[in-house]
Amino acid sequence: MMVSILSENVSLDEKFGCEHGLSIHVNLNDKEILFDTGASDVFAKNAKVLDLDLSKVDHLILSHGHYDHGGGLKHFLELNNKAKIYARPGVFDDFVSVDEDGNTRSIGLNKNLNYGDRIVYTDKEFQLDFDIELFTVESRKDCMPLGNKRLFVNKEGRLILDDFKHEQNMVIREGGKAVLFCGCAHNGIMHIVKTYRDKFGSYPDAIVGGFHFGSRSQGSTLDEKFIDQTAEFLIETKAECYTGHCTGVKGYKILKSKMGDKVRYMFSGLQFKV
Ligand SMILES: [Fe+2]
Ligand SMILES: [Fe+2]
Repeated sequence: MMVSILSENVSLDEKFGCEHGLSIHVNLNDKEILFDTGASDVFAKNAKVLDLDLSKVDHLILSHGHYDHGGGLKHFLELNNKAKIYARPGVFDDFVSVDEDGNTRSIGLNKNLNYGDRIVYTDKEFQLDFDIELFTVESRKDCMPLGNKRLFVNKEGRLILDDFKHEQNMVIREGGKAVLFCGCAHNGIMHIVKTYRDKFGSYPDAIVGGFHFGSRSQGSTLDEKFIDQTAEFLIETKAECYTGHCTGVKGYKILKSKMGDKVRYMFSGLQFKV
């Protein structure tokens, strides 16, 4: 499968735009997948540079209900009139982040777009196609990303800590390879990968997505113990890792120093084969 990073925080070179967001295009033998849309139309502009026609995308999967993953939905609907949009129930809730000074910021998706019958709400385990499966992490056993502490849902004026049941992960199998895609890994990257192992009996060949080592509302605070544990665990899985976005450049550098060749930065504009 060919993986193209269409939106990410840092670009591969000046041909490509970047933003605080994530969007990943996957080209399979018989279909095209989009995993998230980034925060704006950056994913669509970068797709053009890479000569990818987004009207051909067969399935759009939303990893979770934050604007930096679904902010481009409006543009996607303008470009594509066939793909269903697979999302977890609650994905359109009113998500809010609270900074250190107590200022709140809306970080949810636009629920008022003309979605028609395009949205498909997924179960905790969802077989999308014979080679594509989605799953949600049920319970939390490992330490969770520090950044989650500032992320809430506004329920009738009351801010409730986000339980991230609106987050899902995607598994694609092709040519004997299994790839695990995650958006922000709010449920903890180690926990997500361990859930994958318990479910499928082995580790994926590759892991692609954000690992949530830092967060915007936290400034530059990094949970170094969490990064150390994650690096140790990911090395054990022997998976090829591609990360960026909420992993943060600083977090990535620490991870890279521990994982070496087993981890690469997923710049917007980067394409790789698995
Ligand atoms: Fe997020
Ligand atoms: Fe994110």
